[in-house]
Amino acid sequence: MSATVLIGTQWGDEGKGKITDLICADYDYCVRYQGGNNAGHTVIANGHELALHLVPSGVMYEQVTPVIGNGCVIDPKVLLEEIDKLEAEGISCARLKISAHAHMIMPYHVALDHAAEDNRAHKVGTTGRGIGPCYQDKAARIGLRMENLLDLERFEAHLKAVLPGKKCLLSEFYGQPTLDGDRILADYSGYAARLRDKICDTGLLLNLALDAGKQVLLEGAQGTQLDLDHGTYPYVTSSSCSAGGATVGSGIGPTRIDRVLGIAKAYLTRVGEGPFPTELDDEDGATLGSAGAEVGVTTGRARRCGWYDAPVVKYAAQVNGLTELALTKLDVLSAFAEIKVCVDYQDGRPVYETLPGWQTDITGCRSFEELPMAAQAYVKRLEELAGVPVTIVAVGPDRAQTILR
Ligand code: IMP
Repeated sequence: MSATVLIGTQWGDEGKGKITDLICADYDYCVRYQGGNNAGHTVIANGHELALHLVPSGVMYEQVTPVIGNGCVIDPKVLLEEIDKLEAEGISCARLKISAHAHMIMPYHVALDHAAEDNRAHKVGTTGRGIGPCYQDKAARIGLRMENLLDLERFEAHLKAVLPGKKCLLSEFYGQPTLDGDRILADYSGYAARLRDKICDTGLLLNLALDAGKQVLLEGAQGTQLDLDHGTYPYVTSSSCSAGGATVGSGIGPTRIDRVLGIAKAYLTRVGEGPFPTELDDEDGATLGSAGAEVGVTTGRARRCGWYDAPVVKYAAQVNGLTELALTKLDVLSAFAEIKVCVDYQDGRPVYETLPGWQTDITGCRSFEELPMAAQAYVKRLEELAGVPVTIVAVGPDRAQTILR
């Protein structure tokens, strides 16, 4: 038995999807354990690019069972749209399992997410998908869970109990139009008919699989700095993106996990508001943005770009107990004659070290030794600063454009 956690070490968008895709073939189960359709990753199916937000990347592999764990929040409408897109490309979602305990994103969560963000003095820059309000209801113990789709009478009773409060908040406090309960009931009854066969006790499923010697990959969404507890609060998402969340959000114990693989981009990006000390508001930042195609998969927003921040990744190593690191998008730095790395902070300001660039196309390199010496030195320096071995280096978007050390 063994489970691996794959986790973002920065502010999300580190290229987790590519690394999941790379290693997924070695696993029997691929599990999302937190977040919802605020996340986004692109998969290629039959030569077509599909943006996925909820379905775990493992769906692309026939031998992998994709699981949406109890720690996730699910918008059933979005999930069904994804299933339809995948199946239209011949990717079967028949194996997909959904935790009965995962909370459902309701239309009022989406409306409240927008209303709250519009009314905030200091904006978080949420994705507007209802994530925060859904987790709020989970903590307040008034949420609807996927299991409620299995008993529509109880669903209706629960909705009737919750809806007046939501309507009041929306109309009286935020001055927004209220929502039609009958419409919600009709829509969710339709989702229930299509999803009920996939809803089960995924915690039990995964524990039995581990007992039987199966391999489980726990796929984190977002990144450590967006973790509700360990990130740059309040500019964070509303779930536990860090490795600890993987056990809570999947229902397996920490002793089952023997590998924690952190993903770090060779530079840094962030979407949404909040601190970003190494952000580059200049030509270098624009170069990173264009060379790295830094546009959010979920919202289409341009990502903020900056130099690699070593204390951020060292912190992620500590919070998550990383056993190794995968460094992504190293090829994007080929544009620079000199590359800066933040190695420390003094009086709240980044202290930079300048490393020589390589200014050569490295997208064809397939071994560490093939990389220019300056690129090798860059990787080794980041490894030293993180205190964790870099075992994977990505030099391009394709699965093949990867160096295993
Ligand atoms: P929420 O998760 O929609 O509530 O947004 C909270 C913050 O997390 C915002 O700054 C978002 O931009 C950010 N965020 C949420 N999901 C992702 C992601 O998958 N990648 C990067 N940032 C994200």
